[in-house]
Amino acid sequence: MSRIIISCAPRISPYVLQELETLGYRGRTLNKLGVEMEGTMQDAMKLNLHLRCASKVLLEVRSFSATDPDALYAELSSIAWERMIPSNGYLRIESFVKNDTILDTRFANLKAKDAIVDRIQKTKGRRPDSGPSVDRTVLFLHWVENDAGIYINTSGDTIGKHGYRKVPFRAPMMESLAAATLLASRWDKNSHFINPMCGSGTLAIEAALLACHIAPGSFRTNYGFIHLRSYDERLWKKLLNEAKNKVPEDLEFRIIATDRDPRAIEAAKMNAEQAGVKHLIDFKVCDFRDTFIPRSNPGVIFFNPEYGERLGEEKRLEGIYKSIGDFFKQHCKGYTGYIFTGNLDLAKHVGLKAKRRIEFFNAKIDARLLEYEIYSGSKKRI
Ligand SMILES: C[S@@+](CC[C@H](N)C(=O)[O-])C[C@H]1O[C@@H](n2cnc3c(N)ncnc32)[C@H](O)[C@@H]1O
Repeated sequence: MSRIIISCAPRISPYVLQELETLGYRGRTLNKLGVEMEGTMQDAMKLNLHLRCASKVLLEVRSFSATDPDALYAELSSIAWERMIPSNGYLRIESFVKNDTILDTRFANLKAKDAIVDRIQKTKGRRPDSGPSVDRTVLFLHWVENDAGIYINTSGDTIGKHGYRKVPFRAPMMESLAAATLLASRWDKNSHFINPMCGSGTLAIEAALLACHIAPGSFRTNYGFIHLRSYDERLWKKLLNEAKNKVPEDLEFRIIATDRDPRAIEAAKMNAEQAGVKHLIDFKVCDFRDTFIPRSNPGVIFFNPEYGERLGEEKRLEGIYKSIGDFFKQHCKGYTGYIFTGNLDLAKHVGLKAKRRIEFFNAKIDARLLEYEIYSGSKKRI
């Protein structure tokens, strides 16, 4: 068993913990950027395949004490890297460093890289290449004061991108963030999911993947662990097979995605096709006010409107946010409404009191998922 650290975007760790529990693992919050657990390389492979909200899965090789770059070099040279990294391979070092002897993180990365490739040169007579590419072997160095740890980044490139979105459209949500907002919502995966202003379709596609238990990692072909000498291809194929879920012909509820821009719907359809769920989503080009809202089995109606980062846009958007509130009140009775926005001033124009205000970040923007209970009549809820 080794220590596994699962990194994620800020404010998403509660949802990663929730996912770990669903997968039968026990995790702990490490800090605002991640959770930790104990596990093996097989567990790391499984996590890469199944986690919807995470960014990277790091498997610890060793933790140690290092006061300065020479100590770091000495410690890393004593690890049998030749057993992990092919001598004709390629290596990238990523790091988080806060040590008084290091003024530039790149120097720590260089020192770590030298220790590893020198060791492989000494034992194998050949040194692997190194550089910035994220698509081969990736190691992560964590070094704060005198505490250091070196990890295999088993993901390589972030698993926050789920690999099906080939056509982004204006301000798309990161797939891992979209998945986290769905887990934060009260959607039961059994009632309608309505997504007006769907843009490139991320929320509707993530909803379909979630409802059909489709592993988000099944669309990707490259991971960091594939480039290790110990890579067990048969095991990976077995995990992929176990994760393969037959996508149903249809659902007992509806997923509806609309946008007034035909290019958005075109992009959303292509992305849904890539994800294998196009047949499960009803797409339509229309203004959000013309979105069809089924009356029976009300579920969730989820908006991610623009939030006006450019000057002068805010006035126009105030009207849009007010119309969303009116649309909730007039047409979405019995549903739970959500608005994901990075502009809390605009949210005030919705004209409904949010029942929950769940904190997120969208990239660096402080954002909220606002939840509205939409009652039928004045008080009673259907
Ligand atoms: C921030 S983007 C949504 C991004 C989406 N969540 C994604 O991940 O791709 C907002 C979308 O709202 C659409 N939109 C703006 N005003 C609209 C309106 N009145 N009716 C319908 N769609 C509208 C835009 O075309 C744009 O695609």
